[in-house]
Parts: sequence; C-alpha cells; structure tokens
Amino acid sequence: MINEATLVIGEQSFQFPICEGTEGERAIDIQDLRARTGYITLDPGYGNTGSCQSAITFIDGEKGILRYRGIPIEQFEQNPNFVEVAWLLIFGHLPSEQEYRAFSADLTASANLDESMKHHFEGFPRSAPPMAILSAMINALSCFHPECFELEDEEHFRVAAAGLISKVRTIAAYAYRHSIGQPYIYPDPALRYVPNFLHMLFSQPYAEHFCEPVVRDAINLVLLLHADHEQNCSTSTVRMVGSSQANLFAACAAGVCALWGPLHGGANVAVLEMLDRIHRGHISPEEYVRMAKDKDSKVRLMGFGHRVYKNFDPRARMLATVAERLLPTLGFNDPLLDIARRLEEIALEDPYFVERKLYPNVDFYSGIIMRAVGIPTNMFTVLFSIGRLPGWIAHWWEQSCTTGSKIARPRQIYTGAGITDHVPRDGR
Ligand code: CMC
Repeated sequence: MINEATLVIGEQSFQFPICEGTEGERAIDIQDLRARTGYITLDPGYGNTGSCQSAITFIDGEKGILRYRGIPIEQFEQNPNFVEVAWLLIFGHLPSEQEYRAFSADLTASANLDESMKHHFEGFPRSAPPMAILSAMINALSCFHPECFELEDEEHFRVAAAGLISKVRTIAAYAYRHSIGQPYIYPDPALRYVPNFLHMLFSQPYAEHFCEPVVRDAINLVLLLHADHEQNCSTSTVRMVGSSQANLFAACAAGVCALWGPLHGGANVAVLEMLDRIHRGHISPEEYVRMAKDKDSKVRLMGFGHRVYKNFDPRARMLATVAERLLPTLGFNDPLLDIARRLEEIALEDPYFVERKLYPNVDFYSGIIMRAVGIPTNMFTVLFSIGRLPGWIAHWWEQSCTTGSKIARPRQIYTGAGITDHVPRDGR
C-alpha cells in the first residue's frame, strides 16, 4: 500500500504521509506543507480539501451511498424515527431502550421556551424570513441557558443537545405563528417529536390538529434524511465557528445562516418557486431547462446537481418514492409533482446534465412532500435546519472532543495592490 506522496518543486522533493479512512478514502496529509516548502495549496470551494477526520457520516458520491455511523440510510425507511437518528449521529450508536426513553423524556421536558422569549418574536415584522428569526432566536436561547456556554462533560452536553433539538422546533413553530398573526401553541408533552411540531404549527386554541401516521412517518423521514451530510457548507460553518471554542448555540445559529442560501438548504424553496413559475404558465419545462443550460441566463435547474453525488443522490430517490406514495394517500393531486417528474425526465436525457453528472438532489422532492402536508414554502428551509441540527451538534461535539483540534484559519493568495502610499484627502 502506498503510504507516502512525493511533491517535487524545482530541484527539491518532499514526502508527505498518506492517511486512509475506514472505507478506503485517501488523503495526502499536508499539515506541515508550508512550514517545509513555503507553499500553500489553493482550492477555492474546498472541493479537494479534507478539513478534518470524522467518524459520523460516510458518503460515496460515485456510488450514491450515504451512511450514518455506518448504517445505510435506506435502513431508516421502515418506521422512520428522527429522534433515534439524532441520538445515533450525536452519540455514535443506536440508543438502547433506556437511552431512547431518557432522551425522549429530555426532549419533552425541554420543549417549552422561557415565557419571556415569546416577546422576542413580537419584535420581528410579520414578513421577517423565518430563517432570520430561527438564527437570531437560537442565539437568544443561549442567553436563557448560560449553563450551556461551557459544557463540562458528556452528561452536561447531552442535556444541552436535547434542549436545543427540542426547542428549535418550538422556535420554528412560533416564528410561523407570528408570521400569520395567530396565537402561539404550547408544546404538548403527550405528543412525540414530529406530531408535537405539527401541533404547534397547525393547532388552534379551540381545535387540536391531528397528525395522520402517514404524515408523521413522511416528516420523520424528511427530517432524518437531512440529519447529516458530512462537511457540507453549513456543517463546515458550525465546525469553523466551533473551532474558535464558540459555544454550541452560537455555532448552530451560524449553521442556520449558512444553510439559508439557495445553493444549499434554500434550494428547497427555490425548487418550489421554479415549479410554481412553470405551473403558472410563465415558462414551459423545456424552456426552463434550456435557460438552465445557458450560462448567460444565470438560471440553474434548482434541486439538481451536487458537489459530491455524481451518480444519484440516494435521499432524492427515497423522497421521490415517498412523494409518489404520500400524495395519493392524502388525496392531494399536486400539479407541481407532474412538473417535477417532467423536468427530471427532460434533464436526465439531456447531454448537458448527463455529461456534468447532474441528478436530482435532496431538495428536488422534499418541498412537494412538505407542501402536501400543509407546510408553507417559506418554512421549508426551517425544516431542513431542524433536520440538520443533530448533524451540526454531532460535528461540534466531535470537534470539541478531538485532542489538539485547531482554530480553522485558511490562508489565501493575495492579489491586491503592492505597497502603496497613503495620500492625504486634499491631495487625492
Ligand atoms: N443547473 C444547471 N447547471 C448546473 C447545475 C444546475 N442545477 N448545477 C451545476 N451546473 C453546471 C455548472 O454550471 C457547471 O457547468 P460548467 O462546467 O459548464 O461550468 C457544472 O455543472 C459544475 O457545477 P458547479 O457549480 O461547479 O458544481 P458545484 O459542485 O460547485 O455545485 C451545486 C454544486 C449543488 C451548488 C450546484 O449543482 C447547484 O447550484 N445546484 C442547484 C442548487 C441546488 O439544488 N442546491 C442544493 C444542493 S443539495 C442540498 C444541499 O447541499 O443543501
């Protein structure tokens, strides 16, 4: 087995060790490259840069494989349980019955927000984007739990993690209720994670929302399929913020902001807007695909393409199947599903997409499922955040527990002006 790489620069050659992961993925360890050679690497977008070693999630983009702690995600399809997956990602193994019960009890006990936090929502305009509220409120939450600024041991961390996973759902629901001018609905301790969330979103003080089992399962699956995806933009953000030893809440609030963008979690909203535009007759699927291929148009086929998956995104396949099953069960005949199918069909036969290995990603069908259960479009990325939170927490904790982990601080190649004299204002 090759265990060293040689770098030749001019007359000199340098040896660097090769590090190998459990699934055979190899990296050249260049930690002392600059010290030894005076050179750095340049990798905009970090497509070739391993920022850490991690034992949480494995992806093989060529083969369309995604595993959480070694378990293929397809194995979570039967009786999908987001809480169990959250525990698995964070603590590294499937919870025993006792661990599961204790974690669920912690989630239930910490679902409510400090009553004065309700007033924070009033300070936001009704039209405020829920992702802005979510990020701000996660930071605000930390002020009500100063004991979480410094987590001393695993037990302390477990309580903080459960608190965050539980409360983020309450914050999300309150943000929505505020946006539609309806009263906040308190969490119900008798309900499980997903039905409780839907209860806070959709119940009225005078009418209890009933969560159909088929809806509960679909949303559990949506959440757990978003739960981790190794070093994506938002998780890398959480790690980067955490690397300065910023607290868990601050790091996750930053993760929400990173997720917001349309090239990342915001793509699920962009997909729905794209489908809706086509549905309203503003543009045909064929014309949309033509524009997406035109570099001058700045249009992309939203929900298509992935930095890592170059074959298919297994999450997209599973969500497409759920959408196909769920909509008829709910009696929801959504024309947007037909448009999505049509777009997929056109793109998958088009050399532009085939050559670039662009396939539907997780965001292509998730919005159709959320829409079918009544979740408004501007809440889609919020649901992605709720789903991704266990991943962020797991990575923050893994990094915190790694001996010798360093503050993240990339370098750059400076391309600005050479040394230039300051000219006083009256001489410019
Ligand atoms: N529509 C049209 N062209 C595309 C698309 C697309 N959706 N995605 C990539 N391309 C083209 C791109 O123009 C480039 O072409 P060329 O080689 O001729 O310049 C080529 O494919 C490679 O694209 P890239 O931008 O270099 O690839 P990337 O790995 O930097 O970007 C991506 C990955 C997901 C940001 C990108 O595929 C994209 O913008 N997709 C649409 C947005 C989207 O669905 N995002 C959700 C990603 S999955 C969930 C998540 O991470 O949150």
